[in-house]
Amino acid sequence: MKKETQFLWGGAISAAQSEGNYLADGRQPSNFDYLPLDDRRLKAVYKNQADSILASIGDEIYPGRNGNDFYHHYREDIGLLKELGVNSFRFSISWSRIFPTGEEEQPNEAGLKFYEDLLTELEKQQMEPIVTLSHFEIPIQLVKKYNGWEDRKVIDFFLHYGKTVMTRFKERIKYWIPFNEMNMVLHIPFIGGGILFEEGKDNLSMQYQAGHHQLLANALIIQAGKEIDPANQFGAMLAAGKTYAYTCDPKDVFAALQQERENLLFSDVQVFGEYPKFFAHYIVEKNLKLRIDQEDDEILKKNTVDFVSFSYYSSACTAAEESGIDRVATNGYTTLRNPYLPKGKSVWQDDPLGLRITLNQLQDRYHKPLFIVENGIGTQDEFADGKVQDDYRIHYLRGHIKNMLLAVEEDGIELMGYLMWGIIDLPSVSEGKISKRYGVIYVDQDDQNKGTHQRYKKDSFAFYQKIILSNGAVVFE
Ligand code: BG6
Repeated sequence: MKKETQFLWGGAISAAQSEGNYLADGRQPSNFDYLPLDDRRLKAVYKNQADSILASIGDEIYPGRNGNDFYHHYREDIGLLKELGVNSFRFSISWSRIFPTGEEEQPNEAGLKFYEDLLTELEKQQMEPIVTLSHFEIPIQLVKKYNGWEDRKVIDFFLHYGKTVMTRFKERIKYWIPFNEMNMVLHIPFIGGGILFEEGKDNLSMQYQAGHHQLLANALIIQAGKEIDPANQFGAMLAAGKTYAYTCDPKDVFAALQQERENLLFSDVQVFGEYPKFFAHYIVEKNLKLRIDQEDDEILKKNTVDFVSFSYYSSACTAAEESGIDRVATNGYTTLRNPYLPKGKSVWQDDPLGLRITLNQLQDRYHKPLFIVENGIGTQDEFADGKVQDDYRIHYLRGHIKNMLLAVEEDGIELMGYLMWGIIDLPSVSEGKISKRYGVIYVDQDDQNKGTHQRYKKDSFAFYQKIILSNGAVVFE
């Protein structure tokens, strides 16, 4: 890659999956802290079952409450990342550390102090912070009282939170991502929107309404953020991955197009400042009941994003008639198994060329700088004698980074950076298990939260270090 480009090589984590210490220093729980360690995690939570999930009783393990103890290990972690050579680090601020119930007037000083100290550490190590305001988190009181993002009032609470941190950390944070993977509210509504479903209610409309409120909140954060500091840059963030047609039958191609535009709906609005044309028909077809006020159009139009960030783990595959075709899990939902992709170490299908295709697709559509803010492989690792020989992760990194660099060099993609996801092992969102590991840094902790939390460098650590040092060249050797 060209040396003069200010490419951001880094790693990413979220507060909910890393910090732990969920009641420390005045914090109160968020939706994420109520996700149990079983397959209820990804399901829509219904109001009538919510009591058992929100009761927080018994010996159940709630991985969000433990994270990987980043709250106490952040200095050491940033030190290790410095040794790795990264020049940037993405983390999220936990809303309920700053406003424990979401409704306070005054912020929790201890919460602000934690992030202030973290920023000081990053500045010392010359790392650019990339900060997400809501990475699958909303204070639980806002879930119980307002049904999360279903209620328009939540926009004001979020704005108050956003303005508070953007003012406090003015000139210390330039890159902001108001919401992580906004399109996830359509797949994992309790995690993505803090909303509880109700039997007999129009839950699909509720999901889109919550999404609309997040879009408004995103736009108002941009408006406020630019007033606070015009140098602030804001990014859309979507769970990306090109949707392929299962065959070249035009019916399959059309099915893929339809799935794709649903997936890109929120980022379309964030970039273009308006809903795409198809959505008016979609509303009628699905009989969606949405409240979109006239003033909303103006707010969305005036406050669009500066860049488009995304996570990429795999591509997806769809057909007009899907019955009888094998399915496979991917990020937050299931998709058709792509017969052209070899079986990798992870359950999710690896598709390194899919990253290049996705980069091209997003640039063609959005004409904005792109930013890969999550990519990585979640697998079981074998830890012995302080070592992890994760050649599969090295293989994954090589393939994906090679395709990313080809996209930049040969396809003219304008790319701000590459952040490896879960750079320090953390509990997975879908499984809740830390035994599904993403990091180049191993954390001595098991799924029951037993262990010393000590950090170790995996073999992939040295490889990613070489990638950064050579500005990518090593992946072509
Ligand atoms: C992304 C999320 O969807 O995928 C992360 O932003 C998440 O928070 C990552 O960890 C990987 O998914 P999972 O389910 O393996 O943790």
